[in-house]
Amino acid sequence: MPTTAHTKPLVLANWKMNLSVQESVVLARNLAAAYSKLKLKEHLELVLCPTFPALAPVAEVLKRQSVCLGAQDVFWKPVGPYTGEVSARVLKELGVTHVIIGHSERRQFLKESDAMVQQKVLATLAEGITPVLCVGETFSERQTGQKYLVIARQVASALAGVTLTSGLGLVIAYEPVWVIGSGQAVETHEAQETALVIRHTLLDVFSESTIARQVRIIYGGSVDPVNIGNFVGRGLLAGVLVGGASLEAKRFTNLMKKL
Ligand code: PGA
Repeated sequence: MPTTAHTKPLVLANWKMNLSVQESVVLARNLAAAYSKLKLKEHLELVLCPTFPALAPVAEVLKRQSVCLGAQDVFWKPVGPYTGEVSARVLKELGVTHVIIGHSERRQFLKESDAMVQQKVLATLAEGITPVLCVGETFSERQTGQKYLVIARQVASALAGVTLTSGLGLVIAYEPVWVIGSGQAVETHEAQETALVIRHTLLDVFSESTIARQVRIIYGGSVDPVNIGNFVGRGLLAGVLVGGASLEAKRFTNLMKKL
């Protein structure tokens, strides 16, 4: 059963803080060329998420390409005295179509709370940008049987007060924290089961038809060219969020070619 009316899987490359501006531009150029040459557009939607200062130059590379631009974070106010922050308004101006929100690295290192994540989701949707809401349990939460409670709480609190008017999109990325960057993804059935829990929680917020048309559930955490097939198109899973395996053009192109 597909999660959504979207027919093609969604693939997001999360480059985190791994690349310089120049390296981001070169990688974007190589990936856009491969995407076009191999006609990958027929098989998947691609979103590249560089570090903030690389957004504008990467946007320039992606001009006239069908590859989308994503940001790795956003602030929840549209404008004002918030030193160091970046608004959804400015991201929109740069051509950003997707924003990763609530990534576990931000929850862990920047102490982002569920309330902050919810404000960011609202601010992003207000600009017509698609939030990529990251949820996932830590290893100890999983070991102590709290996994599904944690995920349901993260989803419900992030979406409190959110309405999805037509034309808006929302992506929920299930990213088990203990698996990110480990080189060892979870088993397919675990990702599928978690997607079901996420969908169940979504039904408390949105109608079935809104979910079908406007929401996608994807998996992230040590996805690579070998295991990608275990996730995309399996059960409710409609795409992937890729970190490490998206940092090198050849490897990431191999991953995309599997779809
Ligand atoms: P990984 O990162 O693919 O390197 O595990 C995924 C993510 O953190 O989004």
